[in-house]
Amino acid sequence: MTDFHAINIITCAINFTNSSDNYKSVFLHAKTTSMKKIITISILAATGLLFAQCAPKTPASMASSTKAPADEVAAIKQKYTQEQMDHGKTISLNSCNKCHSYHEASEFSVAKWEKVLPSMTHKAKLNDDDSKLVSAYLISNAKLN
Ligand code: HEC
Repeated sequence: MTDFHAINIITCAINFTNSSDNYKSVFLHAKTTSMKKIITISILAATGLLFAQCAPKTPASMASSTKAPADEVAAIKQKYTQEQMDHGKTISLNSCNKCHSYHEASEFSVAKWEKVLPSMTHKAKLNDDDSKLVSAYLISNAKLN
């Protein structure tokens, strides 16, 4: 992901240098003030577009890991009802003790849960909805310290 962003930004920078050179020569050849005005406006518009393109696109799942654990828990509690969390707990009790003993939510930190849950919900063969509920339950009851 980081490599991809770096390449994206470099490509954008190269595009930008190339296009600004082109604009410069066009600009020098423009004879009238109104032509220059139009070119200037185009350059500004193109620059804006380029910068918009160059801005790193952070997927929502990545953005959440930069939040403080307590904020993340608060966000989850806002998103899911108590009923959904309880359902997540039930699913976890049924699916997360098949290969190892059941790990209580409070055994691990938010960061640890976020690290292991994608592979564990996969191992447990949970569908998307169930994975989300299990993750919501475990993360929101994680060890906070
Ligand atoms: C198919 C077997 C299997 C299932 C089902 C499974 N796990 Fe695991 N789990 C493992 C294995 C193997 C490890 C240790 C190696 C690893 O991380 O892959 C592990 C490790 C873990 C750990 C890390 C424990 C530590 O001390 O670091 C946690 C936490 C965990 N599992 C939670 C879960 C949860 C929650 C579920 C249900 C969604 C689940 N597991 C379902 C096989 C499974």
